Amino acid sequence: MSSAISDPRLRGRDVKRIVHDAEEIAARVGELGAEITAAYPDGELLVLGLLKGSFIFLSDLVRQISRPLQVDFLAAASYGDAMVSSGTVRLVYDPKTDLAGKHVLLVEDIIDSGRTLSRLVDLLSARNPRSLEICTLLDKHHATELQYRARFVGFDAPNEFLVGYGLDHAEEFRHLPFIASLQ
Ligand code: IMP
Ligand code: MG
Repeated sequence: MSSAISDPRLRGRDVKRIVHDAEEIAARVGELGAEITAAYPDGELLVLGLLKGSFIFLSDLVRQISRPLQVDFLAAASYGDAMVSSGTVRLVYDPKTDLAGKHVLLVEDIIDSGRTLSRLVDLLSARNPRSLEICTLLDKHHATELQYRARFVGFDAPNEFLVGYGLDHAEEFRHLPFIASLQ
């Protein structure tokens, strides 16, 4: 795809390439929705979106899941705006929904080291869900710290800094309808 991306949303920032365009994302999210629907034939399903990065992915994904479900969110902020995640996780919103006895599907934008998620998985497991699985839009496959692999993965991600479709750099570029590499 084109390397000279000129888009008013980019604030003049150079984007190396579009990694996944809107059409490709929509097709993959449709497939994931079908996979998830088939994976939960019974029981209560709670889709837990990890804020803020998952907000666009989650809103598209739940509309592709053809079974009853509930939606709640979890906000775990890592400190700073560094392009490398810091590893420090702070819970700033804790879901009010009771997890006990429910299938819980934790939805993440991207897994890099897996530090963010392993903390959350431990915390949520203690609340006795019927099952706990991870769905991530992107997986960089570096997650040595993640003892639980994501069951549902949208795309394998390159080892580059990605923005768009919910992913930010210093809180910018979340609203891009495509996923692009900043490097
Ligand atoms: P981890 O804890 O190292 O797995 O990092 C996961 C979190 O870091 C994600 O939820 C993102 O917020 C952020 N992150 C990691 N890689 C990227 C990227 O390429 N673009 C944007 N955010 C990223
Ligand atoms: Mg982020």
